Amino acid sequence: MPGGFLNFLRDHLPGFRRIERLPRQLLGRSPFAGDIQPRRVRAFWGRWGRGKGSLPFPHPWNYREPIGIMEAFFCPDDAEGEAGGGKHNAYLEVPGFAPILMTRDPRLIRAIATETGDKPGQFDRDPMPSTGIARATGTDTLLYSNGAQWKHQKKISTPPFARTTLFQVEQFHEFESGFRKTVRQRLEALQERQAESAQAGGVRIRLEPEIKAVLLELLSNIFFGADIPYAQIRERYVPAMEVVIDHIVRDTVMNKIGIPLRRMPSFNRRIARTKACAADFEHLTDLVIATRKEGKGLWDQFKSDAPDAALRSNIKAFLAGALEATTSYASWAIAHLARNTAAQEKVFQEVKDIEDYTPQALDGAKYLGQVLDETLRLTPALYFFPRKATVDTWVETADGKKLWIPKGTHILLDVWHANRHEDHWGVAVTGYPAMDFVPERWEKLRTQDRAKEFLHFGFGHGPRFCPGKSLGQLEVALVVGTFVKLFEFSAVNQENPARAGVSTKPADGVLVDMKLRTRIPAESVA
Ligand code: HEM
Repeated sequence: MPGGFLNFLRDHLPGFRRIERLPRQLLGRSPFAGDIQPRRVRAFWGRWGRGKGSLPFPHPWNYREPIGIMEAFFCPDDAEGEAGGGKHNAYLEVPGFAPILMTRDPRLIRAIATETGDKPGQFDRDPMPSTGIARATGTDTLLYSNGAQWKHQKKISTPPFARTTLFQVEQFHEFESGFRKTVRQRLEALQERQAESAQAGGVRIRLEPEIKAVLLELLSNIFFGADIPYAQIRERYVPAMEVVIDHIVRDTVMNKIGIPLRRMPSFNRRIARTKACAADFEHLTDLVIATRKEGKGLWDQFKSDAPDAALRSNIKAFLAGALEATTSYASWAIAHLARNTAAQEKVFQEVKDIEDYTPQALDGAKYLGQVLDETLRLTPALYFFPRKATVDTWVETADGKKLWIPKGTHILLDVWHANRHEDHWGVAVTGYPAMDFVPERWEKLRTQDRAKEFLHFGFGHGPRFCPGKSLGQLEVALVVGTFVKLFEFSAVNQENPARAGVSTKPADGVLVDMKLRTRIPAESVA
């Protein structure tokens, strides 16, 4: 059959591609071509041989361990040689379905992320792993959409997050004073606890819920200019959002027929509670949208005539996504410093004299910056980026290697494992073991003028790069910098494993023993 006619059938006859690829799939031949040859992973065979206990796809019994699912693509670890690219690139293909390509090769991650966008032939962000998010927020969001709709969303919703907006003197001052107020409340609560505590001079605490409450207050009250009492944020909205996020993860895997939560009958307590929490999330969204007409917070930077209803999905995605990502980032940074007293002391020496967290002061805190970079490298908040090939396409890496990817392929850019592999970040390349938390690694790369070669992908890469980077970094630097200035803390557990859902977090919820460095005079945090 002439190629043109075949292409016509591929593009216009539903199911043609599926039938066309069946013989190749049944023969077990690779769908890929080029210099990079991903290694085939079998869905079931060799599970026990892989030894890590997970199948390489999500199902009801393993979906809470997504990092293990990704790891299953690379077991037995490093068995294949580098020659064909099978060591860091693997695929799963079940007859009748499109292939799934997993890559932990930073060069390929970079090439595919660069080629993701709205231009013809570019990759899409694969909506499949975000179906639960889309059902909870709506599909018309910057996060979920592709093509022209994504471009439009990006144009209107990114200016308020830009560095130039956030770092305007007045804007910044508002952030800072709001932040100090929050810290003061937290300190008072902590002082009370210390007074009640049997442990002289210290308290054992799970910090993650506290970090989350502070960050949600920053987002809703300072960024969106709402005026929600702190107690409500902590006791009502943070727990509600945790339940909604948990539902999103479960819903993505289990709800294959796509019933929206509001249509699910409340036949058990979990569904009834999830519905109540989803209603609280809606209420929080109402509160942060209500401030738009008064131009409060950063709303005055938002130039659009779109009615409030048209923004709702994006606001919900921002609230949930930003809270997840910033909580992950700040939690990991504190969890790492709690296990590295030398690094904690170095950060303390740097921040102890910072009174106002001005943009200049933050820029001057170089070691804190390296701690934050190392945090995103070793424990990135978003641990994989989903992509989908919109056409049959070639990608080329910076070192000239090519890979042909067929249309419809689901691609997982596995930054979690890329960032932790000795081949990419180990002693031979950066001077320090890849699995160790060493902020000095960044200083070394900087002095060797090699920092730009090494991307941790913590905020993504290419056109779908995170628009909230400046806001997120600002919030996290403020939280971590102030926390180190005020408290000395050490981890209760020396191991620091991850749990993962929408984002990654320390499995122990950042359980630390902490004590005030000095008693803080109220006016210094007022
Ligand atoms: C500081 C913590 C944050 C981290 C680590 C982070 C990380 C990321 C990453 C890795 C991506 C790219 C995902 C991909 O390529 O598939 C991304 C995209 C995105 N982030 Fe963030 N983010 C953070 C904070 C925020 C904040 C504060 C907001 C908004 C208020 C935000 C909104 C978004 C949106 C809307 C996208 C999608 C952009 C697009 O598809 O064009 N993020 N983020």
